[in-house]
Amino acid sequence: MRRQSGGRLVVSQVWRAHLRVPSLGVTDHEAFFERGQQLPAIFKHALLVNYLVPFVTMTAKRSPNRRVWYVDGYAGPGTYEPVDSGRETAPGSPLLALRTARKVRSFDPPVDMRCVFVEADPNHVAALQNLVGDPQFAPIRPRVFSGAIETSVATIVAEVGDDPLLTFLDPFGTSLPWVHLRDSFLSRPRHVPNEILLNMNVDALRRIGALPRTDARNRPTIERLDALLGYAEWRTTFDAIYSPGEEGSATSAALAVAAEFRKRVLEQTGYSSFAVPVRRDYGHQPVFLMTLFFRHPLALFKYADAVSSANQKWRLEVAQRDAARYLRSAGTMLWDDDLSPEEVRRKVSEAESELDVKWSSVIAENLRGLLRVRNCVPVSGNLAEVYGDTLGLAREKHLRSALRLLSTEGLTRPLVGDLSKATIQRVI
Ligand SMILES: C[S@@+](CC[C@H](N)C(=O)[O-])C[C@H]1O[C@@H](n2cnc3c(N)ncnc32)[C@H](O)[C@@H]1O
Repeated sequence: MRRQSGGRLVVSQVWRAHLRVPSLGVTDHEAFFERGQQLPAIFKHALLVNYLVPFVTMTAKRSPNRRVWYVDGYAGPGTYEPVDSGRETAPGSPLLALRTARKVRSFDPPVDMRCVFVEADPNHVAALQNLVGDPQFAPIRPRVFSGAIETSVATIVAEVGDDPLLTFLDPFGTSLPWVHLRDSFLSRPRHVPNEILLNMNVDALRRIGALPRTDARNRPTIERLDALLGYAEWRTTFDAIYSPGEEGSATSAALAVAAEFRKRVLEQTGYSSFAVPVRRDYGHQPVFLMTLFFRHPLALFKYADAVSSANQKWRLEVAQRDAARYLRSAGTMLWDDDLSPEEVRRKVSEAESELDVKWSSVIAENLRGLLRVRNCVPVSGNLAEVYGDTLGLAREKHLRSALRLLSTEGLTRPLVGDLSKATIQRVI
């Protein structure tokens, strides 16, 4: 009896909740890298690596020396200490980038991915220097800039020149003030591939937005947020939604401010964005938004794929940890074969197959609707309409099976190859 319910509990809770993204529940900066990887970091890093590879390989084609840059503006020490002594050190974003750089160097033709890490904390800088000094990374020639990113951003952008660049900004709280972001990373020439992955801290927006503004002690913090967003009128947006004492209203207000910021970025710079909510647990409000700022329409296609795969990895991790939690709370007397790692994987795989079918049929229905009013649909320019509610959940493989469905119905021709550049044609 318990065996059955235990197994079902673990998997169904996760999938029924239809998680888009994991949570980031860490606020204590010092302890952050010493507690091992939290579930949210697993998602964040999976997303980063999943996106880095297509970004560097695609943009290298447009770089004369196949040289592409990755700048990690809030790099951290490079690795996370193990949760317990029996476990291995987990890679932070710098180590993941270095491994990616090594991997793409072995491609045919090779990609010359240059890594630049910026870090303000001297202890983290020392750890980073130790990491980049590893001889295995010598051919990549990684660079570490010590000190606040504000002081090095102009030098870095000048050094990158007209090469493709992906910048990752992952601060603990508020990040690079808007003027720096606008005048550096967002002011690169239009013809140059250039994207920014900003982990926007909804929790910080929520906390700062709700601070009593009449209290002079709060002024510096509130003004830091003004500088980050580049305008003080966010307060009006926040106040229109926030109601002290009303649960969730501060987060809703923070999300509205984040959406407004993205809209302003688009208006002022021409950069579109896609924000992926990061939650503390299933059903929770987002605490972060992993936001990609981009100009090229193909970016959204590749990012959606990266998000989808990162979510899948995270769902598996959640299920495994939930199983472990369940067993611990139940006590060893209730140890249960039903919750063995293999069994969890099997249940996860069943649940994933259900999602595959569901998402493919949602996409197929979206395409039927689009093809009722149009003869052809270029995929990458219409991704939001094609994926609809599955944007960020589904990926190319779901689109492919939706297309197989439509071609069986005789509505479209079968499509092969890279779907990001495909145009779906109605044949009847
Ligand atoms: C959330 S951690 C980065 C985690 C890292 N991206 C990862 O995934 O492994 C933020 C880091 O930014 C650093 N930091 C804070 N303010 C900074 C600034 N102005 N410039 C550069 N680094 C800063 C902190 O010391 C901390 O190591």
